[in-house]
Amino acid sequence: MSELCIHKILEYFRSRTGIVFDRKLSIIKNKIAKFAASKGVKGCGSLLRAIKNDKELMQSFIDYMTVSTTYFYREKRELHSLAELASKLEARKILSLPCASGEESYSISIELFRKGLREFKVIGIDINQTVIERAKRGIYHPNRLSEVPRDILEEAFEKISGDMYTIKQRYKRLTSFYRKNLFELSREDFGSFDIIVSKNLFIYFDEEGKQKAMLKFHSLLRDGGILMLGNTDNPKATPGFSRVDEEMFLFEKI
Ligand SMILES: C[S@@+](CC[C@H](N)C(=O)[O-])C[C@H]1O[C@@H](n2cnc3c(N)ncnc32)[C@H](O)[C@@H]1O
Repeated sequence: MSELCIHKILEYFRSRTGIVFDRKLSIIKNKIAKFAASKGVKGCGSLLRAIKNDKELMQSFIDYMTVSTTYFYREKRELHSLAELASKLEARKILSLPCASGEESYSISIELFRKGLREFKVIGIDINQTVIERAKRGIYHPNRLSEVPRDILEEAFEKISGDMYTIKQRYKRLTSFYRKNLFELSREDFGSFDIIVSKNLFIYFDEEGKQKAMLKFHSLLRDGGILMLGNTDNPKATPGFSRVDEEMFLFEKI
């Protein structure tokens, strides 16, 4: 596979997903070659044509390239603040994007429920179809649960066969999942949101991608709505937002 062709594949991938890869080209090249071999596609040019023409293959390629790490109750302090904020705003619709396999979205539902909120919906969205299916199933290995406080583990989860845990129905009912690309999302899909939680998405983007994402979040939030980013997601500019907390990356739409 020539470097030029690998660059063309990466550029096409970026144009579709916003994702840029900063790992060594030789590592990416090997990864892409393995994907092509697993699908019986011979050569880089054929792979490029195939992912452009075959939607399903492109989705498998996205799933293959976007492997993520996530777990329940990541950034606990922010999670508690989020529940306070949701209660103050009487939030009904919360977007959790990217949700990966659902750990963050369910954690939000559990915290809001514990805060006494009942009339809300957490909508989890990710570009990766495989993780969305896992999120819908809601079955987790204990290694995803190590940060969950003991009382919450006992109250919100049930132990099922083997070592696995499942999330209780009352939280499942408050949380739904969809495979979508942030950049293809519009108000026509779900209306506007009171709160958007987006953590560890910007690790995939360059500054241009981050700015495009900020614009998209702005358009998806209602006036006065809140955007919560992760602690390492700090974008250079935040037009249309004012930062409302000095420590956390919390922004109000103005
Ligand atoms: C590291 S996970 C973050 C999960 C969770 N928010 C957390 O912080 O634990 C990053 C996810 O971003 C998703 N992603 C990347 N680009 C995306 C896009 N354009 N639209 C939606 N999801 C995207 C990937 O599929 C991946 O599952």
